[in-house]
Amino acid sequence: MRSRFMTGTAPMTLSVAPRKQLLDTRLEVSGGQRLAGELRVSGAKNSALVLMAACLLTRDTLRLRNVPPLTDITAMGEILAALGVRVTRSGDTIDLDGESITRAAPPYELVNSLRASFFCIGPLLARMGTAQVPLPGGCQIGSRPVVEHVKGLKALGAQVTIEHGVVTASVPGRGHRLTGGHIHLDCPSVGATETLMMAAALADGETIIDNAALEPEVIDLAGLLTAMGARVQGAGTPTITIDGVQELHAADYAVIPDRIEAGTFLLAAAITRSSLTVGPVIPEHLGAVLTKLEEAGCLLHQDGTDLHISASEIRALDLRTMPFPGFPTDLQAPFMSLLATANGTSLVVENIFENRLQHVAELQRMGASIRMQGNTACIEGVARLSGAPVHGTDLRASAAMVLAGLAAEGVTTVRGLEFLDRGYAHLEDKLNAVGARIRRLGDPA
Ligand code: UD1
Repeated sequence: MRSRFMTGTAPMTLSVAPRKQLLDTRLEVSGGQRLAGELRVSGAKNSALVLMAACLLTRDTLRLRNVPPLTDITAMGEILAALGVRVTRSGDTIDLDGESITRAAPPYELVNSLRASFFCIGPLLARMGTAQVPLPGGCQIGSRPVVEHVKGLKALGAQVTIEHGVVTASVPGRGHRLTGGHIHLDCPSVGATETLMMAAALADGETIIDNAALEPEVIDLAGLLTAMGARVQGAGTPTITIDGVQELHAADYAVIPDRIEAGTFLLAAAITRSSLTVGPVIPEHLGAVLTKLEEAGCLLHQDGTDLHISASEIRALDLRTMPFPGFPTDLQAPFMSLLATANGTSLVVENIFENRLQHVAELQRMGASIRMQGNTACIEGVARLSGAPVHGTDLRASAAMVLAGLAAEGVTTVRGLEFLDRGYAHLEDKLNAVGARIRRLGDPA
């Protein structure tokens, strides 16, 4: 019988932009400017990354629109190309032609640069019956285990071993097809839910995922899979049911707007006590964030897919990060920059990742008054932050530094742009267009 895993030479047609080599690249933020105007939100990075991996489920071409121009997207394109996918990018549209997958093992050097590359394991296993993916390992914000992903794949009939840092998975038996199963996630992991949805889409029979993540990116993936011919129900609720189909087909699909970028822009207005219009947004994706902004004293007004925000006095408040629909961990650092300038004392509790408060030390360098105990930060608002050289220790911490710089007296030099550029498309250009004064220095031309 012909193996589902074909060998051969990978068609490496890859027209994604090359990643820039980063030297001492930094942003110089001259603080104290009022902002005014309109900020446009790009497609969601976290959705786009998983939707790209879904191309491995079909021999047809997947067209994704509203894909943000980010280094993480380029990295994912390179990983898919290494597996044999033809990747063609034009503006914010990306075509992924997975007709001839030639490898089921993305190379470590590429995977190592992008945790989200672990998403490949589900679709590879479902289509090829085999996958070898290096463990993504930890990152700046925590250990990032994949126990739930592996447990779920086993429940779908995969044999999985982890040796020498590589997860090797295969489906035994005739046809090498996964079989539907009942999966209960111990925690509602976004990545595990997405991996298992993709795996189950091509499994024989029905799969039920209980305690599934509720995040909008999960619903977006369900939307794409459905457009490709999958049968998915319940995405956005704790129980997702997937009725496996024999094969999936081509689709043309637009990525949802990035709720974290939108939240960052709203916070840019708040921290500079300005008025801005931010769009497009899906307000339900930002529920907890909008509630907290209102609690802080911001005025919000929805106009179709645009949100108008206006800020003057900012009140202190307490917030704790939670899985969706709770307050997103990805906006905890940016919101803390705002609270550092609020009237009164705020408490911020990080419940999702164990090491996601490293920005506290950097904010303190800018004059913020913050005390830490475990995963809790107690922030006493100060009248004014002062510009300083700071380092963004992860993607969202870098954004928090830029926001703090917008409000600070003098110049803030933000390093750590290799993180920032992973998740924010042309951040300084967008902010400068509404009145910020940010210069990028040290970038190789
Ligand atoms: C995704 C997002 C990330 C966001 C996070 C939480 C992408 C590419 N990244 O990451 O930006 O901050 O959701 O909203 O979409 N956990 C386990 N065991 C597992 C898996 C996870 O204990 O097997 C724990 C993690 O340690 C963490 C929590 O679950 O404490 C949430 O992790 P998860 O939802 O899996 O986050 P990611 O999918 O990695």
